[in-house]
Amino acid sequence: MRTESEYRELINRSLEPQLRSLGSIPDRLLEAMLYSLNAGGKRLRPCLLLAACEAAGGSGDLALPFACALEMVHTYSLIHDDLPGMDNDDLRRGKPTNHRVFGEGMAILAGDGLLNAAMELALRSSVRMGDSRGLRATEILARHAGVTGMIAGQTLDLTLEGSEPEENKVSYIHAHKTADLLQAPMEMGLTLAACEPAQVEAGSRYGLHLGLAFQIVDDLLDVTGDPTLMGKNTGMDGNKMTWVALKGLEGARKDAEAHAGLALAALQGLPWNTEYFEEIVRENLTRNS
Ligand code: IPE
Ligand code: IPE
Ligand code: MG
Ligand code: MG
Ligand code: MG
Repeated sequence: MRTESEYRELINRSLEPQLRSLGSIPDRLLEAMLYSLNAGGKRLRPCLLLAACEAAGGSGDLALPFACALEMVHTYSLIHDDLPGMDNDDLRRGKPTNHRVFGEGMAILAGDGLLNAAMELALRSSVRMGDSRGLRATEILARHAGVTGMIAGQTLDLTLEGSEPEENKVSYIHAHKTADLLQAPMEMGLTLAACEPAQVEAGSRYGLHLGLAFQIVDDLLDVTGDPTLMGKNTGMDGNKMTWVALKGLEGARKDAEAHAGLALAALQGLPWNTEYFEEIVRENLTRNS
């Protein structure tokens, strides 16, 4: 296993070559995709995927294109999340949002492009691997990103804007718009390492509770955070069904801690050193970006 910053550097230097490896892409589309992809970001999801695979004794080299694919899906979700028809945000990863620079049409295409590039990369790697692990990892990615996963959560986030918060609804939104893309790296990494189903299940439970804690902290930071550290504007969630709207600042903080505890408990189902994954849970509770 490597350290978190080593994984992050590996991802940072691999995303662009992985994208370019698909062939000739129109200049403006490539520019718009790379603008958001190379803008930084914590790289939490792809680092988790590489760490899960290596912790379980699998190959990081083999997992790398899948990790890049996941970060491309995440970046696409942010570009579309920021569009005027969705959250209408001007700042992302410390820079003007994609549509602010390239226009709405190009931002839609850059998002579409990153999603399709992700699937093409994952499928190409699966074909090259020649056994079912890659294909199963790709199915996991498509499912968590898809219409029963992240897109389902984004749909309720959008359609329930302005209505009175209810716990089951906010839970659904958080579980899908955010936790799905944190379950994906655990399930994908462990699947690529040929783990037993019970271990993949434990990893998935960890991802679920980490994801729920992560989104509660995101909701808290919208109220308490510093935009210059976060690289995105605060005070944007006024009309949203957030955990803070449901429980207040103190209640939300307590629930984030409870989910952190459940994420740590899930790690007991993984029979190897889980320090890396424990640290991610702790970092999330104190993050300011
Ligand atoms: C932002 O995700 C979207 C949410 C699910 C809250 P991150 O906070 O991981 O964003 P980056 O990748 O670091 O920019
Ligand atoms: C975004 O949730 C989740 C996805 C992009 C799938 P938010 O709308 O709360 O994320 P931020 O606050 O804009 O990063
Ligand atoms: Mg949103
Ligand atoms: Mg948003
Ligand atoms: Mg938010």
